[in-house]
Amino acid sequence: MKLIKEDVYYIGVNDHQLDLFEGQYDVPNGMAYNSYVIKDDLIAIFDTVEKNFKDEWFANLKEVLGDEKPTYLIVQHMEPDHSGNLIEFLKSYPDTFVVATAQAFRMMSQFYNFEIKRKIIVTEGDSLNLGKHILKFIMAPMVHWPEVMVTYDETSKTLFSADAFGKFGALDHEEDWACEARRYYFGIVGKYGVQVQNLLKKAENLEIEAICPLHGPMLMENLNYYLNLYDIWSSYKSETDGVAIFYTSVYGHTKEAAELLANTLKNKGCPKVVCCDLAREDMAEAVEDAFRYPRIVFATTTYNMSIFPFMRTFLDHLIEHNFQNKTIALIENGTWAPNAAKVMKELLSHGKNLNVIVPEIRIMSLLSDDNKKQINFLADKLMEPSEFLAKEKEVKRVVKKHHFACKICGFVIEFEGEELPKDYVCPICKHPASDFEKID
Ligand code: FEO
Repeated sequence: MKLIKEDVYYIGVNDHQLDLFEGQYDVPNGMAYNSYVIKDDLIAIFDTVEKNFKDEWFANLKEVLGDEKPTYLIVQHMEPDHSGNLIEFLKSYPDTFVVATAQAFRMMSQFYNFEIKRKIIVTEGDSLNLGKHILKFIMAPMVHWPEVMVTYDETSKTLFSADAFGKFGALDHEEDWACEARRYYFGIVGKYGVQVQNLLKKAENLEIEAICPLHGPMLMENLNYYLNLYDIWSSYKSETDGVAIFYTSVYGHTKEAAELLANTLKNKGCPKVVCCDLAREDMAEAVEDAFRYPRIVFATTTYNMSIFPFMRTFLDHLIEHNFQNKTIALIENGTWAPNAAKVMKELLSHGKNLNVIVPEIRIMSLLSDDNKKQINFLADKLMEPSEFLAKEKEVKRVVKKHHFACKICGFVIEFEGEELPKDYVCPICKHPASDFEKID
């Protein structure tokens, strides 16, 4: 249990037992299932956690509630990693009202054989008054399921964002946010860029000081950074300048071509080159990189008159996740009837706005001298500026700044938000944030 803002508590859990999140994503650093409580005149809980963590979650909840009873359980998302303790909770606190969308209630009856007696169905713009805290519900269908809503607490200026802004990784493991948030986003929400854009547009009108997702850390500072990345990802722009090369190789010759291209690009000064063996590297990481960079190379072998299985799986993932806005190059290998480029082009024809560099490179078993010249030429083409790279953009966001004065030395600082970060130290007298007062 942790107090994250006045009256707002974190009561989530870390999962280090899980091997594959949602049955497919490797989570070497575990997973966090977040859950929150606002303890006001009325008490509201935001989502439960995965069912295996019942005891730990109930202990966290009890630590916040003591002998008090919650009035509301707000179910923002019905996926079982969040609703897994819904029924156990209602058995313990039967007088609680469950607050959710109509579709979420339909899903409850599908997932759980239990009659929910106290229901409050909410829709866009509905609000709930807890006393000091006013909660406003914002529909976010398909971020990541159709029943999803997020909740804005007008008092603490906190956006409880459901899966949005989540990441892989338990909270007791320190790591960079963007890497595992990007892998999570493109694997889990990536297909629904339009819906994420819709949510971001609604968020533009809110004064947000904290984002509390259902996975990953609570985001309390530098919110433009996270909002900007979500805007880039959901608008299918490329985040980082560079080239990503994805290959499969049976006897090492296609790998040789991919590595020669990677080295040639590096020698020519390409800002970033990724070279990924699809048979050996994490598929979700590869998907993330394909969306991250503006220029993508696919190199594979002809196999059963089609393409090598790992490349087919990869291309299926990309198309399924709305792959678009890229410059593409193809390298095929085949000893007697090369056909891989044709098959890759057919699969990629289901993507949008993919500019294919022609001609593709054809290797007949071993890399020839001509192939080496073609790779050098391809590297030059791939060095050309990309129209798909995201431009610097100022995120639209309602922000209020306040002045805080040090009660010891009188130093005044302007800061975004209602309170200074807890670890803030006065640059003059070195006294902590607790010795400051808000003066406007
Ligand atoms: Fe974290 Fe879509 O469940």
